[in-house]
Amino acid sequence: MAQTWTPNSWRQKPIQQVPDYPDLAVLESVEERLAKYPPLVFAGEARRLKHALANVSEGRGFLLQGGDCAESFAEHGADTIRDFFRAFLQMAVVLTFGAQQPVVKVGRIAGQFAKPRSSSVEKQGEVTLPSYRGDIINGIEFTEEARVPNPERQIMAYRQSAATLNLLRAFAMGGYANLENVHQWMLGFVKDSPQAERYRKLADRISETMDFMKAIGITAENHPSLRETDFFTSHEALLLGYEQALTRVDSTSGDWYATSGHMIWIGDRTRQPDHAHVEYCRGIKNPLGLKCGPSLTADGLLELIDLLNPANEPGRLTLICRFGHEKVAEHLPRLIRAVEREGKKVVWSCDPMHGNTITLNNYKTRPFERILSEVESFFQIHRAEGTHPGGIHIEMTGNDVTECTGGARALSGDDLADRYHTHCDPRLNADQALELAFLLAERMKGGRDEKRMVVNG
Ligand code: TRP
Ligand code: MN
Repeated sequence: MAQTWTPNSWRQKPIQQVPDYPDLAVLESVEERLAKYPPLVFAGEARRLKHALANVSEGRGFLLQGGDCAESFAEHGADTIRDFFRAFLQMAVVLTFGAQQPVVKVGRIAGQFAKPRSSSVEKQGEVTLPSYRGDIINGIEFTEEARVPNPERQIMAYRQSAATLNLLRAFAMGGYANLENVHQWMLGFVKDSPQAERYRKLADRISETMDFMKAIGITAENHPSLRETDFFTSHEALLLGYEQALTRVDSTSGDWYATSGHMIWIGDRTRQPDHAHVEYCRGIKNPLGLKCGPSLTADGLLELIDLLNPANEPGRLTLICRFGHEKVAEHLPRLIRAVEREGKKVVWSCDPMHGNTITLNNYKTRPFERILSEVESFFQIHRAEGTHPGGIHIEMTGNDVTECTGGARALSGDDLADRYHTHCDPRLNADQALELAFLLAERMKGGRDEKRMVVNG
């Protein structure tokens, strides 16, 4: 029998990836302050997302989840947020149109600040300092002061998340996401983008459809779904003191919700079933993600599913698979078979970023062809197993950075130095993200035609 859960029951468990705060009294006072601040998201919104994900788990819809590896205090500006949102909308519209399925839109944003690290220290030459753990914990500069974990940063992360979310809500509901603007999202996009022509053609077809609908009386004025979109937020629930402070009871249901974001996930490094991160997440009612890497066994996965989703509620759990392009064929089928055998309801999502990181010219990078290759395998394997390839989880930005090699512009190792801006892992730039969306749409369309053939067959 599971022990009683409370928002702080995780404190009794072993825990990985904890910052070394020099003054615990300051930490406590920050957590007390945060606990009095308003929630960033509402329980009803998290339930709405869960409902949309339940449809995905049953094969009706696709999850698009993406954003920065790590948000930063330095790059918090309206333009960055708008550029991200615009690239994300373009991907969403390509996928919705291509796959003719609803796309559930979830940003890695408005709270994605804490980073798990493989080593607790970083060495440069003779100097050893604590590792950078994300702006919510310490500073990225390689100096002693910057690297000391500072609890006040949690307040800054909270305020930045609130401001980001405020703008995103305005974009999603206030007109920017109106399908009548489908051409405008291309403006400001890199002029000579190899994807521009392809996107323009698709936007033309959407505009034509909208004109037809207008002629028969269906307009953005009388149909809000044409001018608004549901956009949700997500991040890794790594810094549990912060998460606990924002954990609140929903007055309508009496249930506990994380109000730091709509969906939170557990990282591949912190998914030990008897440890703190799983303990915290099992008690809140939000949709959860679970990162699944090569070391996860089938039995280990089933144990986690029982802990995190004992009622087998569809939409509660998304399995975010990150094996690497060479390992996906070895690991994904055995997990799918175990989940299918036990009748567990999950969303299968593919993270083609984290298993495909290499070092080139001293830069951490990801070759675009490996990212595509993992996505391709993910689709093929699900087709072969008869399961639904339900989503994708990517690190991306709306800006024209040079962090991942390859893509239609064929960025090389020598190009990386030009605009390498990430605070952590290399992200797809807007061009590469859109190229990926076109490829996904084709694969999804393929799956649809195949199904139709079986039905008609
Ligand atoms: N409301 C629908 C949806 O979110 C249609 C829609 C409106 C849309 N604006 C969008 C789809 C922007 C993709 C991108 O799916
Ligand atoms: Mn990352």
